[in-house]
Amino acid sequence: MSPTLRFVVTGTTGKIARSLVANAAAAGVEVLAVGRPSLDLTDLDSLAPAIRASRPDVLVSAAAYTNVEGAESESDLASTINVRGAEALANCARSLGIPIIHLSSSYVYDGMQSAPYRECDPTEPLCTYGRSKLMGERAVAGAHPEHMNLRLSWIYSQFGWNLVTAMLRQAERSSNVRVVADQIGNPTSAADVAGGIIAVGRNLVLGKPQRESYGTFHLSAPDIITPAAFAAAIFAKSAKCGGPTANVIPITRAEYTSKLRRPANAALDSTKIAEVHGVLLPTLDAPLHACIEQILEKRA
Ligand SMILES: NC(=O)c1ccc[n+]([C@@H]2O[C@H](COP(=O)([O-])OP(=O)(O)OC[C@H]3O[C@@H](n4cnc5c(N)ncnc54)[C@H](OP(=O)(O)O)[C@@H]3O)[C@@H](O)[C@H]2O)c1
Repeated sequence: MSPTLRFVVTGTTGKIARSLVANAAAAGVEVLAVGRPSLDLTDLDSLAPAIRASRPDVLVSAAAYTNVEGAESESDLASTINVRGAEALANCARSLGIPIIHLSSSYVYDGMQSAPYRECDPTEPLCTYGRSKLMGERAVAGAHPEHMNLRLSWIYSQFGWNLVTAMLRQAERSSNVRVVADQIGNPTSAADVAGGIIAVGRNLVLGKPQRESYGTFHLSAPDIITPAAFAAAIFAKSAKCGGPTANVIPITRAEYTSKLRRPANAALDSTKIAEVHGVLLPTLDAPLHACIEQILEKRA
């Protein structure tokens, strides 16, 4: 019997890392999450020993500085983690002769175009976080040819803080919830992203990867909606499952408390990963239902 494919993912508490661990058994792979204190992206010397000791077949670089607002005042820390840390992980994967799947973001785009973004569209980050993610992608690509920079957008999950958990919490406190309605993106389940990452990792290690198997890819669910429409879908599902619900009051980004510039269009076109790797994520309905059921079950 051939040995089980082993994915090592950075960060132990992250939404994607925990979803990978949760999906491993069903997918027939091993996933080991490695994070602080043994692996700290601000301590570059900690990376290679921690990764080598976990003997990966595929390295998934999911740990990152993800505080989008905080990056404005902590740009050096964001850069250390998202650029230098990512580059060091790619160097480590190259020295081990394994592929790296590095997670990136729709924040690399300015959101000005009307169509969903394709990988070939020009990047123009609006904020420090987006710039650090773009520089991180470039550093990874420069360090290791067998890389995938996988751009994600609007991840929701049963784990951690995200739009679904935030909306349910707000509905417990108020019958009216103000949500932005002049922005679009593709809400995507972290569990589905985990499945996609495992499928890609399999192709890269067990398949016959070509040059086009590597590089930059988008991975998102197909529905393109506003946060307000997403909130309405969350409350409708929650009500069906006996959870909290609220009325959605649509507001503009200008009325939102944060002054950070975010892409008005964060929608990603994921055609390339479907064509090259056969990964196609499902529409919103079933994954959102599953996620809300899991959150409500944990609270019961
Ligand atoms: N969530 C989204 O909507 C979204 C959208 C687009 C792209 N992405 C990208 O997808 C990736 C995963 O996102 P996520 O939502 O799963 O992240 P997350 O839930 O915010 O978790 C971030 C992870 O990074 C780890 N981390 C932070 N600083 C670290 C350091 N110095 N050393 C080691 N680990 C450190 C954290 O570890 P601790 O537990 O020790 O703090 C945590 O495990 C990131 O690259 C992010 O940029 C996310």
